[in-house]
Amino acid sequence: MTKLGEFLISKRISNYKKIDGWLSQSEATGLYLTASMLPLAAVIVEIGSWQGKSTFCLAKGLRSGKIYAIDPFNADAGFDVESSQVYTALKGTRDLLDIFNDNMKNFNVEKNIVVKKGYSEQFAKDFDLIDFLFIDGDHSIAGCKKDYQLYSGKVRKGGFIAFHDYYSDRPELGPTYVVDELVKKSDEFIFYKQFDSLWIGIKR
Ligand SMILES: C[S@@+](CC[C@H](N)C(=O)[O-])C[C@H]1O[C@@H](n2cnc3c(N)ncnc32)[C@H](O)[C@@H]1O
Repeated sequence: MTKLGEFLISKRISNYKKIDGWLSQSEATGLYLTASMLPLAAVIVEIGSWQGKSTFCLAKGLRSGKIYAIDPFNADAGFDVESSQVYTALKGTRDLLDIFNDNMKNFNVEKNIVVKKGYSEQFAKDFDLIDFLFIDGDHSIAGCKKDYQLYSGKVRKGGFIAFHDYYSDRPELGPTYVVDELVKKSDEFIFYKQFDSLWIGIKR
């Protein structure tokens, strides 16, 4: 991408910095760009929304369609004990879903967002074809594997799958394990691009 292109996107998504969460500038750009390439009336499924940092970037990129934001909004990290301590420490006293909704409203992206309050396994049956699946929920191997197994088959041909927190030198992390051991070893997805720890594949 040209320097001018990068600059224009960084201006367009600059409010993402005001939302608490975990995304580098490059990862935020990767989510935005991928969402911007989707067809009209696209379906984006985000597993793990927290306070809406990534949801905001997806919404800014999306031309039309819906982003389904799945999260229990209770700071539960599933089997991932390390993150559990981090989420609990960061949670504060306000209701997480209220914070998420306020963020989406304050930054004018609420109209394309559908909140699914609960755990990923509760909602897999609600989706047929997904244009972009973003997995950023339970980061344990068991949790991330479950999300991949429940949802990846629903990504349409030519659609995208992305994992946050893919670090090739950290095989103990759920996203790294799933990408290296399941995604790359299956015939289903081919590598598209990586933005820092955001690994993106395309469905064959
Ligand atoms: C790393 S945070 C997500 C960060 C967010 N994408 C951002 O950009 O700031 C992970 C979130 O996933 C949620 N979570 C954990 N297990 C989940 C599950 N099984 N289904 C959906 N969300 C889950 C956690 O409660 C937490 O809010």
